[in-house]
Amino acid sequence: MSHKSPQPLVSYKSGALSGDIVPPGDKSISHRAVMLGGLAEGKTSVSGLLEGEDVLCTVAALRELGATITKDPDHIWHIQGVGLGKLKAPAKILDMGNSGTAARLLMGILAGCDFTSRMTGDASLCKRPMSRVILPLTQMGASFTTTDSRMPLHLTGSSHLKPMTYRLPVASAQVKSAILLAGLSAEGITTVIESAPTRDHSENMLRHFGANVTVTKQPDGTEAVSVTGHPRLSGQNIIVPADISSAAFPLVAALLRPESRVSLRNVGINPRRAGLIESLQEMGAKITLSNRRDQGGEPVADIIAEGSALRGVTIPAERAPSMIDEYPILAVAAGCATGPTRLLGLGELRVKESDRLALIAEGLKSCGVKVEIDGDNLTIHGTGAQPVGGATIATAMDHRIAMSFLVLGGATEQPVTIDDGSFIATSFPAFVETMNGLGLKITVNR
Ligand code: S3P
Repeated sequence: MSHKSPQPLVSYKSGALSGDIVPPGDKSISHRAVMLGGLAEGKTSVSGLLEGEDVLCTVAALRELGATITKDPDHIWHIQGVGLGKLKAPAKILDMGNSGTAARLLMGILAGCDFTSRMTGDASLCKRPMSRVILPLTQMGASFTTTDSRMPLHLTGSSHLKPMTYRLPVASAQVKSAILLAGLSAEGITTVIESAPTRDHSENMLRHFGANVTVTKQPDGTEAVSVTGHPRLSGQNIIVPADISSAAFPLVAALLRPESRVSLRNVGINPRRAGLIESLQEMGAKITLSNRRDQGGEPVADIIAEGSALRGVTIPAERAPSMIDEYPILAVAAGCATGPTRLLGLGELRVKESDRLALIAEGLKSCGVKVEIDGDNLTIHGTGAQPVGGATIATAMDHRIAMSFLVLGGATEQPVTIDDGSFIATSFPAFVETMNGLGLKITVNR
């Protein structure tokens, strides 16, 4: 299990933000590029890969499983894949760090391998529910040894899994992806039915590498995603767009400071990820998208965010999958808006890197914002005045809670301190430098 020393950070009220940046590479797409590159035959090259700790865990795991992965001085990553069915048994425990995506997607791949693997993670990851992937992968023929369906675990796979049709009990792209990746090693067609559309990066990238993936709309409005087993996957060139989930922090920071203008270039705007933009625009945010284009099968655009007067709105539960990682920063925006914002259907936030629903509510309250939790719904009573701030926020090993409250500190009367910024490196390693470069004032709290 990995350990880190805590790094408290403090964020002070700032003036207008300005600048032009390319946010770090998309974390979801980066994990998938490394995993499929490792599984495919031949060479894959990846530019724009997120060099954050989460993705580096995936890189280390694929190396341990036999892929050769190197990086050029100009940050192009080269992966020599081993070919489907040819990964080798890992000698070491696979340590997935803080990353649920790395752990769950890799379980899907390992379910299709004729050997036993051991997997662990940090204290946050070892608390997260894994039964959501263990159950379907067991039905397909993999076997798991765990305590309480959590990590650390042992997993024994088979290259001749049973195909199945599985209806997702939760809206989760991680679970969908784990099953589709296991489906690569199944005898026939594996289908996942999802009632709410979740991010489709696995489907897009599997097709790109040569797998047969189809999507059929069902009469009841749900979607069935199918993959045919034992495809020939061949190495590809991948360009990873900037991560909208990371762009969200400078974007909201700019909205919260009058006279700000920040450009965010090359950001992935896949409609299944872009719920935050729609939500903020409904709140009155001045956000402009330009130069829309397709980059390696994913839509991207340049985004300009300007200082805006935000107002409270209601965000429907159906939108949650398209902005599931953005609720902490949206809640910060809502805390600075005028009028109540109601965020509905947030149950999944309880099982992220932390119990985000609880931490958002506690953090905002300690900064002087009135909030209410009612079941899976959260109401944030922004008054339009700058929140007081002045609190120390518990981040519970959660990078997005840490970054969100540092952004809040840029707009509160008193500075906001976070107890530990070290986990920011999982997804946005240069966050502090980038935000300070735009005009925020974040320092190490000594
Ligand atoms: C991800 C899916 C989401 C998201 C996570 C990344 C992915 O999780 O929260 O950060 O890359 O598939 P769920 O699909 O479990 O909601």
